[in-house]
Amino acid sequence: MDVIRVKGGARLAGDVMVGGAKNSALKLMAVALLAEGRSVVANVPRITDIAIMAEVLRRLGCDVTLDGTEAVIDVPAEPGSEADYDLVRRLRASICVLGPLLARRGYVRVALPGGDMIGSRGLDMHVSGLARMGAEISGEHGFVIASAPGGLHGAKIWLDFPSVGATENILMAAVLAKGVTEIDNAAREPEIVDICEMLNAMGARIEGAGTSTLVIEGVQGPLKPVRHTTVGDRIVGGTWAYAAVMTRGDVTVHGVRPEFLDIALDKLATAGATIEPGDNCFRVRTSERPRGVDIVTLPYPGFATDLLPMALGLASVAEGSSLITENIFDGRFMFVNEMVRLGADIRTDGHHAVVNGRDRLSGAPVRATDIRAGAGLVIAGLCADGVTEVGEVHHIDRGYPDFVADLARLGVEVERTDVPEPTFDF
Ligand code: EPU
Repeated sequence: MDVIRVKGGARLAGDVMVGGAKNSALKLMAVALLAEGRSVVANVPRITDIAIMAEVLRRLGCDVTLDGTEAVIDVPAEPGSEADYDLVRRLRASICVLGPLLARRGYVRVALPGGDMIGSRGLDMHVSGLARMGAEISGEHGFVIASAPGGLHGAKIWLDFPSVGATENILMAAVLAKGVTEIDNAAREPEIVDICEMLNAMGARIEGAGTSTLVIEGVQGPLKPVRHTTVGDRIVGGTWAYAAVMTRGDVTVHGVRPEFLDIALDKLATAGATIEPGDNCFRVRTSERPRGVDIVTLPYPGFATDLLPMALGLASVAEGSSLITENIFDGRFMFVNEMVRLGADIRTDGHHAVVNGRDRLSGAPVRATDIRAGAGLVIAGLCADGVTEVGEVHHIDRGYPDFVADLARLGVEVERTDVPEPTFDF
């Protein structure tokens, strides 16, 4: 089992380069399915999830090469229509092949991903949206099966909640449907805008990207393959920003537009940090202990749930108390017990956490429970006395390319080692 060990008392200083957003790149690779021929998705992060998505596409008959930070995807005239459980369970995001395959093939069978460590995650809005467009959808033997033999038609769809995944699946299905689809209460994340930009470059007609209403005029002719560059990863950028303030450091983050982190950076300013926004970069610095701030997660442009562990980390070392509220995932506080092992004073009640900041945490062995919790624990370890050892770091590998190397470049004493698992004989 690989572990990451960090020595506490670090102060992060320097520059860090952030690559493309995982949650965009994965979906852009699925977007490629909508056009026969060779599409290139550039600025993809070198993480496990991208490799798994490449395999999902290969099993659908695509020829996929991951070359540096480029995914070159050759899509056949007739891609397959089935995504198996062995891959979908490793990558919940592979459910995003549902919309494009239904649009191109009129039939698709995708394994149900099931829940994960940050909570139960439904598909009801994906299903009801596609059904409104004429798809017949059933669940059987752990698969969701969708068919639309006569093709999909445009529809007016109101989402109960601005779900990122549901917006993407409906959007990717609607671009080839007959007529106009309107998605109201659509997700507004920069990653959705990125997908719309790639689709429009392929010949789709989408208006309203970045707003709550997406209007998609279905096109009848085939879409064309394109080359598209993935938007920078605001969650990775935000992680470094929070780490800088927690360690009273000075970090310049490159490759992410600061306006995509407006609220997250504003909270850091309230905590006492100086923020200098630039062109596709920003600098965050402070020499003082941060002050406690209340934070509420919400769909974009609200504070991102994926930065919740960093918000809890900041509150754990800040002066005073903070109230942190999570509104998106029911299991996001799962890792709080690990933070408590590091000496954090956190009490949760439902989707609220009350945090009393401590001047120093206390280094301990802990384990990552998901991607963001894993990164959050490593960063909390930087503010602890002694050494913190974070286990199950395969979670971190799913979202943070070069995490250990970046930490080292920013001045942290860090190592990654393989610790053999003990065996217990009966
Ligand atoms: N939901 C439903 N029914 C649906 C769809 C969603 O109940 O049909 C619920 C979910 O259970 C959840 C909430 O709505 O409670 C939000 O789900 P959403 O669909 O918005 O999220 P997602 O598409 O499953 C993506 C990211 C997550 C990120 C969320 C919210 C990807 C691959 N994942 O998930 O990223 O937290 O949006 O911004 O894009 C991560 O990167 O670590 C991560 C978990």
